[in-house]
Amino acid sequence: MKIAAVTGHPVKHSRSPLIHNHWLKTYGLEGTYEKRDVPPDEAAYFFKSLKENGLVGVNVTIPNKEKALECAEVVDEAAKAIGAVNTLWLDPDGKLCGSNTDGIGFVSNLDQNAPGWDKNHQKAVVLGAGGASRAIVWALLQRGFTEVHILNRTLEKSQSLRDHFGSRVLVEHWDNRSKILDNCNLLVNTTSLGMEGQNALEINLQNLPTDAVVTDIVYTPLMTDLLVRARERGNTVVDGLGMLLHQAVSGFEKWFGITPTVTDELRQIILKDMGRM
Ligand code: ATR
Repeated sequence: MKIAAVTGHPVKHSRSPLIHNHWLKTYGLEGTYEKRDVPPDEAAYFFKSLKENGLVGVNVTIPNKEKALECAEVVDEAAKAIGAVNTLWLDPDGKLCGSNTDGIGFVSNLDQNAPGWDKNHQKAVVLGAGGASRAIVWALLQRGFTEVHILNRTLEKSQSLRDHFGSRVLVEHWDNRSKILDNCNLLVNTTSLGMEGQNALEINLQNLPTDAVVTDIVYTPLMTDLLVRARERGNTVVDGLGMLLHQAVSGFEKWFGITPTVTDELRQIILKDMGRM
């Protein structure tokens, strides 16, 4: 029986087991997906001993994603560009391979829930410059966005993304977030603002074209204040839960050999679990 797992520290709140075990059941596959708490000082040894531990692969969460990148013998373009690995698997020769599926998860969510979202790809505005932002900026550049404007409270972090990804990335001051929205085709919140228990995201949407797509990686609440306000003025909005579901697809495919579909049934399972928390 094939066993995969999510590894991190802490890992007990991860919803990945719900996703993968749902797919295992749906496709009638023999296998299981578990949680393994792996402290940072044990991560390298753990990743290098996947096979000995009876695992076909793992998802990697905070704080071990950079360590996973270091340990992987083969890494794909996404992981290299993003500088972190969230999915590990063994190839037929037993080599440890790594990818980062956050960027692809982000665009697949929009492809599914706002088809044609990238038809106009002149200007994207991305709020935040943390790990998630890095993956999303990479994915937007891959999709051909001409300008990706990054606004972050800590300016140096935006500047380091520009240094890394080049001149299509434009750095703006955090205080200009309401002014920058003219001609914007896509607005993305990657900060933790608007999440339950966090501060509100203060932004005036007045300058945002009504045909712009708006998305938030925060999914607790599912409809953040940003999404509610954007939807009220006629923008197409996409919540962040889909990114969590879509980023899981390629790991499942690598470990279990089937490309799973993100269905409404799966979404309902996660929503039900969120309701329980
Ligand atoms: P992730 O990996 O999910 O992107 P992260 O790396 O901790 O998480 O990034 C969190 C983002 O939310 C950062 O862009 C952070 O801004 P800083 O780089 O200035 O820390 C942003 N953020 C968190 N709290 C914020 C606040 N009160 N105001 C503005 N931005 C905030």
